[in-house]
Amino acid sequence: MKYLIGLDVGTSGAKALLIDQEGTVLADSTREYPLLTPRPNWAEQHPADWWEASHTAIADVIGASGVDPADIAGVGLSGQMHGSVFLDADNRVVRPAILWCDQRTAAQCEALTSEIGAETVVAETLNPILTGFQAPKIRWLADEEPDNYARVAMVLLPKDYIRFMLTGEFATEVSDASGTCLLNVPRRRWSGPMLDGLGLDAAKLPAVYESPEVSGRINAPAAALTGLLEGTPVVGGAGDQAAGAVGNGIVRPGLISVTTGTSGVVFVYLDEPLMDEQLRTHTFCHAVPGKWHTMGAMLSAGGSLRWMRDSLCDAEVGIACNMGVDPYALMTAQAAQAPLGCNGLIFLPYLTGERCPYPDPHARGVFFGLNLTHDKRHMIRAVLEGVSFGLRDCFELIAGLGVDFTQVRASGGGSRSKLWRQVQADVLRHDICTINVDQGAAYGVALLAAVGAGLYDNVADATDAAISVVDTTAPDAGRSEAYEGYYAIYRGLYQDLRERFADLADLVT
Ligand code: XUL
Repeated sequence: MKYLIGLDVGTSGAKALLIDQEGTVLADSTREYPLLTPRPNWAEQHPADWWEASHTAIADVIGASGVDPADIAGVGLSGQMHGSVFLDADNRVVRPAILWCDQRTAAQCEALTSEIGAETVVAETLNPILTGFQAPKIRWLADEEPDNYARVAMVLLPKDYIRFMLTGEFATEVSDASGTCLLNVPRRRWSGPMLDGLGLDAAKLPAVYESPEVSGRINAPAAALTGLLEGTPVVGGAGDQAAGAVGNGIVRPGLISVTTGTSGVVFVYLDEPLMDEQLRTHTFCHAVPGKWHTMGAMLSAGGSLRWMRDSLCDAEVGIACNMGVDPYALMTAQAAQAPLGCNGLIFLPYLTGERCPYPDPHARGVFFGLNLTHDKRHMIRAVLEGVSFGLRDCFELIAGLGVDFTQVRASGGGSRSKLWRQVQADVLRHDICTINVDQGAAYGVALLAAVGAGLYDNVADATDAAISVVDTTAPDAGRSEAYEGYYAIYRGLYQDLRERFADLADLVT
């Protein structure tokens, strides 16, 4: 039997997973690290923290599984997308990495779009330049920290920095590279016009692979730290959304996933690149060679519930800790005591701005309709409902593209709660399936490593061997109907508040 390791360099921690070649999980380990917010709207992390967490988590799973490292056939890498790691000519990190959820680059997005021309941007990248993406971060560094910019010799995405530490190679792959705004997404290679527009030398970007291709091999220092054998292949892997989609089996037509992690994403497989005319979804290369996907990404889905836990639910966290249970289980049990629609309380989940359907860095979270009957139970339920309305926005856009789909698969922390799954099924008005494994992106890239190691001929064979549907949550027609009125108000609220969000941003900055 051969084994594979998947590593997901996420926003809250690095998760390593060790599976056998049939897809059975033998061990997993997550090592957390801090998120730095030196200013409102900024989000940074230290790449050294990712590396410490990553090599430790890999060592953890090898140790816990007892597997002989000689039987580990490959490693797959996944990670938070869009971030920028800047290295100097001696491969030292120039400044903390700027992350996907950082919103500092509104001016750079505007400048780059007008300099390059919106039509060229869309023809090359199939997307607009958005604040979270990588290209405007590079321009921000040039504008705001010119001394640092002058030192930059290489720009990497988060997981690709870990690849460099593991293998010594500068490499990326098409799915994550799609989120830089520097890739020609239809042709799956760096875009000359985008690089020229940014004034970036192609030598400062890594080589681009397809996701299951071998991109490098474990080097001696990484072998010493992780316990992997020197020479173990490392495949391209994928950005966390494409990787999570592989981990959900979204690798052929007709399948959609709805993932509630920190962000919330509705993701559909595409044989051909297909775009929303208003560019509200992201069309990126898939981790399946020669294929694409489009996705609607909300910035704060599970992140909204985490905010609720951390800022308003100290008591629940304390009780959960004493009882040895998950605080989210207590919180959703409370939410279940509030009625559908929360007695007229609606939550807008735009805590860190929004991307889909409104690319708006100034949008903010709102509790709308508070009255004297409301307490924490209603507020928690309003978060579950508001995030589900946001997912519905993304879902409607994707359905509107005319993509046929037969099955919707839920994953991520939000899919573990029965109540939240039911709210999602009711609000989306669609059956929601769950599958036998819920290990997300790390699982997807472990399967990609199995393909790269030659254990499967292609990605669909690997997912067919490992993944099956185990449960379906059906919508209730009455509840679905009842949600429609709240959803209509939810949608109207953003339009009503859009200008006020911008005014507020002016005041705060
Ligand atoms: C996808 C996205 C998030 C991040 C962090 O476009 O921004 O999924 O990758 O998870």
